Amino acid sequence: MSEEIKLPHFDILPEHLGIIMDGNGRWAEKRGLERSAGHKEGARVFKKTADYCQKIGIKYLTVYAFSTENWKRPQKEVHALMELFDEYLDWAISQEKENEEKGVRISFFGDETKLPEELQGLIEYVQNHTKDKNKFFLNIAVNYGGRAEITRAAKILAEKVKNGEIKPEDITEKMISDNLYTADMPDPDLIIRPSGEERLSNFMTWQSAYSEFWFSDVLWPDFTEETLNEALFDFEKRHRRFGGV
Ligand code: FPP
Repeated sequence: MSEEIKLPHFDILPEHLGIIMDGNGRWAEKRGLERSAGHKEGARVFKKTADYCQKIGIKYLTVYAFSTENWKRPQKEVHALMELFDEYLDWAISQEKENEEKGVRISFFGDETKLPEELQGLIEYVQNHTKDKNKFFLNIAVNYGGRAEITRAAKILAEKVKNGEIKPEDITEKMISDNLYTADMPDPDLIIRPSGEERLSNFMTWQSAYSEFWFSDVLWPDFTEETLNEALFDFEKRHRRFGGV
């Protein structure tokens, strides 16, 4: 028997939602487990959350999974995270048919060249096989940093100036936006960070200029659909003025 799940009604939804998935380590430590156990649980919550976002009609979801600074963590922890990304991509490939029907496009934001080769191969495969889908955009930021992303865009434009394709005075904000990983995507309307920290930590530095923020003490592995609903109902009440009145 199929169970009919009633989804809440939202008057306004963020078109693009960003999530900084924080608190995995503390979640594990509180239970006397290794930090990697927290990441494993975090990966499960990520999958569930992405599925839920799609069901309620959020079109773009960008999650922060590994920053350019996270390489400083113990090698064992970095390795465990890379394994989780591998496992997720293997799973996504096994779900290819379902994802195709749902129109899911999976993209990775960040410098892939520093990632293990096998992972790079899986990323390339999944990105290529989903690139024509346009119902739900799932962006996973790995080896990502907002400043590095802007620096990358600056280098692309500098190269164009060097080649005589454009003049420095012709450079516009749109040209910078068009050379970020989010080119052709709207800026995030809402960014959620659980775990009690209230900062961006180099996540979508350029794109977050007018984002709303929502913070919670819940640790990411404890984040549920109800937590997300709470954030979304709060978002509905915000008055976004984008610098106007
Ligand atoms: C920050 O919590 C979390 C990370 C650095 C890793 C986030 C990764 C996942 C949730 C797995 C995602 C998996 C896929 C497949 C995308 P922390 O470890 O800094 O927590 P702490 O602040 O409590 O130490």
